[in-house]
Amino acid sequence: MLIMQIAVPKETRAYERRVGLVPDVIPKLTKVGYEILVENDAGLEAGFSNSSYEEKGAKIVESADSLYKQASIVLKVQPPTIDEIKNLKDGTLSISLFAPSGFKEEVKAISERPLTVFGLELLPRISRAQSMDALSSQATVSGYLATLCAATNLPKFFPMFMTAAGTVPPAKVFVMGAGVAGLQAIATARRLGANVRAYDVRPAAAEEVLSLGATFVKLDLETQEGEGGYAKEQSEDFLKRQQEQMTAQVAQCDVVITTASIPGRSAPRLLTVPMVEAMSKGSVIVDLAAESGGNCELSKPGETVIHNGVKIIGARNFPSQLATHASFLFARNVTELLLLMTKEGALAPDFDDEIVAGTCIVRDGKIVHEPTRQLMEGAGK
Ligand code: NAI
Repeated sequence: MLIMQIAVPKETRAYERRVGLVPDVIPKLTKVGYEILVENDAGLEAGFSNSSYEEKGAKIVESADSLYKQASIVLKVQPPTIDEIKNLKDGTLSISLFAPSGFKEEVKAISERPLTVFGLELLPRISRAQSMDALSSQATVSGYLATLCAATNLPKFFPMFMTAAGTVPPAKVFVMGAGVAGLQAIATARRLGANVRAYDVRPAAAEEVLSLGATFVKLDLETQEGEGGYAKEQSEDFLKRQQEQMTAQVAQCDVVITTASIPGRSAPRLLTVPMVEAMSKGSVIVDLAAESGGNCELSKPGETVIHNGVKIIGARNFPSQLATHASFLFARNVTELLLLMTKEGALAPDFDDEIVAGTCIVRDGKIVHEPTRQLMEGAGK
């Protein structure tokens, strides 16, 4: 039987320290007949040495060029760059994070070649796909880090302290958006002893917030449940009423962590300048949606803005900052997806399977993800 090679390149995009595959999962793939090729030092920034890959049966390859020449499957974190796409040999299948709307040039370059590309953001969120759900695994990392980042920037304790010198009350933390990241931010803030409240437009979130020992903030607003349990896009009027009702809540809090997003849309605006100005000096805002337009009007991705004494921290690729465990979880997600597409030791994706079909953007050079096809037509492909 022909042995297929899987390439694990070193990530080349800025701010990326994760790696697509970690040593632990290699035996799962070699057992079914794959050979794993890892680019020299691909895992170094995530804490995985060349020898740790070799010990699990992978081969180290000196350069990306030679890696791409040999392999027919590429597992990576970030979407392939234009240079990387040029290097892929015909027939290659690539799996990575790849939200097509942000990478139109790359989609165009891929669709001009006989290549097949999967984007993990598109994975259908059904129970059978949970082990492959990289959005959730990486959101868990972001939520955890958002709270730690807030705690280390706040000039106050998170827990209540009763000392001989006096009693310190717990910090008040408000988490806006209680999806995967928000729930992890709440759980982490609770573990640190903060007094936590949270709000989400989906009614189902209330029970999950309460189960973590936080308070669910009720606003006099309609719920905004869309398809598949996600929030739907909200009107300007809704957001304005939400902002008005949240102003008093926000002003009482030491920390606000915002995690609200709408799939495929820019992030809803939850915090306006007057709301920030109503907060006490020294308060901290962590905006996990800074890269997708920002939940806070003042946030900038990768920067800390200080406005009226309030620190506004705009997240940029938080999962990369916890590269070891983010890679560990990511590697399990991609491995499970690849194994779903493997039959009797060979790559055999079943495009009738809703997970395979739903996650595929380009198949043999043809754009098969309908929204992407329309987007590219609009972009003049
Ligand atoms: P997300 O990252 O797209 O959004 C984060 C949160 O922001 C969501 O909870 C959303 O309701 C909330 N939000 C949107 N607009 C808001 C606003 N104006 N104010 C306050 N909150 C706002 O969502 P995430 O975390 O990826 O997942 C959300 C949904 O997906 C949940 O229903 C979850 O149970 C479901 N899910 C299902 C999975 C599966 O079945 N495999 C896996 C993971 C999540």
